[in-house]
Amino acid sequence: MHPTMSYDDPGWEDEVRRICAELEKVESAPLLALHALMDRFGYISEPALVLVADLLHLTAPQVFAVATYYHEFRLEKPADNVLMLCRGPACRVQGMVGLRKTMERLLGIGVGGRTPDNKFAIESSGCLGICPHAPAMMIDHELAGRVTSEDLERLIGERTGTPA
Ligand code: FES
Repeated sequence: MHPTMSYDDPGWEDEVRRICAELEKVESAPLLALHALMDRFGYISEPALVLVADLLHLTAPQVFAVATYYHEFRLEKPADNVLMLCRGPACRVQGMVGLRKTMERLLGIGVGGRTPDNKFAIESSGCLGICPHAPAMMIDHELAGRVTSEDLERLIGERTGTPA
């Protein structure tokens, strides 16, 4: 899901207050609030985490413990473009190693890395569920199948302003 707000927006605190007000007497409120922050903002900033704790009458370490327990929560701003390659067996057989090398060559970073300007990150995932369309990737939250090195060169070129 694409975030709809940024922590740079002047209304971000009001949005966090609105989210927490709806959850005040709900069991698992911190978990639900953190999910809502991920949906709205794409990650959980430290000031937002502290505000959630305050609004839900918890301590920041209590909310931080929830945020770090679940893998899907991000505490850092994601890169502008996230290229998530599939590590599943069908994709490995269908040329994922070559795609990974293309990404590493074009961006100068490996899996788990991000470019210094925060424009690109390369991540990996288990099977993305579209094995018949291997090799598969998630490109900025969109599934893409039968990806080729040429596709990646074009895509990265478009996003860096240096078309292949
Ligand atoms: S192994 Fe890659 S989509 Fe299933």
